[in-house]
Amino acid sequence: PTVALIGAPTDIGAGARGASMGPEALRVAGLQSALESHGLHVLDRGNLNGPANPWQPPLEGYRHLPEVVAWNQLVFDAVRAELQAGHLPLLLGGDHCLGLGSIAAVARHCLDAGKQLRVLWLDAHADFNTSTLTPSGNLHGMPVACLFGLGPDPLTRLARLPDGSPALRAAQIRQIGIRSVDAGEKELVHAQGLEVYDMRFIDETGMRETMQRALAGVDESTHLHVSFDVDFLDPELAPGVGTTVAGGPTYREAQLCMEMIADSGRLASLDIVELNPALDVRNKTACLAVDLIESLFGKSTLMRQRPAQ
Ligand code: ARG
Ligand code: MN
Ligand code: MN
Ligand code: MN
Repeated sequence: PTVALIGAPTDIGAGARGASMGPEALRVAGLQSALESHGLHVLDRGNLNGPANPWQPPLEGYRHLPEVVAWNQLVFDAVRAELQAGHLPLLLGGDHCLGLGSIAAVARHCLDAGKQLRVLWLDAHADFNTSTLTPSGNLHGMPVACLFGLGPDPLTRLARLPDGSPALRAAQIRQIGIRSVDAGEKELVHAQGLEVYDMRFIDETGMRETMQRALAGVDESTHLHVSFDVDFLDPELAPGVGTTVAGGPTYREAQLCMEMIADSGRLASLDIVELNPALDVRNKTACLAVDLIESLFGKSTLMRQRPAQ
């Protein structure tokens, strides 16, 4: 397939500056040639050009809402265009507020193409806050709630399907690696019935069984979207993120996670977000992300037969 790289250089939804440099750090780490070495055709579409970060405090529970809307509209349009062209969009964030525009476009595409949608949300956080629950006002903590129709009007509108229903339902998403959920957010996650494989679950069950469960039901008619927040990874491996949480997946667990997604053969769109080069060490987090993305696209040590699903 053809992979289209879409840079979204912004930190508009985050509480630390620097994720705006993420796209370039991934390019410098060799993302394009790494994908090409696995036989993929790659188009780098360059960067989207949205509003600057005014770095203001939250207003009525949201920080930079108009700018977040503008960036998400740009992402929505760009991702939608690549899907319509038959390409696999790879969004280079940027902070995780952009998952809203990306997944809204994917949901819209699935509706048009008659595909079943499955989202894997790899993250330390549930990103399921609302204006009344958020401890920060940062919109990168809210994209999943917005996709469910819970959030500020201009964002939930962007995430609605033509019939007015929200882009995403609980049955379509699995969260993996979660280990930081705010008090009120916890109740909302439960009330909305999200399927969450938190670190406790991964500790007890192992990554293999976790991924088998997260991928259960994925078939030929499934469009699989992966939203990979780099803070999913243990911060000892991946220091270049703004919201580190101790106790994430190890290198081997993360590799297995990616390889099992690749084995499904259904990956059709991807976000790589929250990489913050200002906090990184010699671009090591970007290099690790590229390494993992290679596995996500099928890199393996030996010639392997893809397991039956
Ligand atoms: N739960 C916290 C908040 O809402 C942190 C969210 C971090 N999200 C992220 N995409 N890194 O402020
Ligand atoms: Mn390689
Ligand atoms: Mn996170
Ligand atoms: Mn996130």
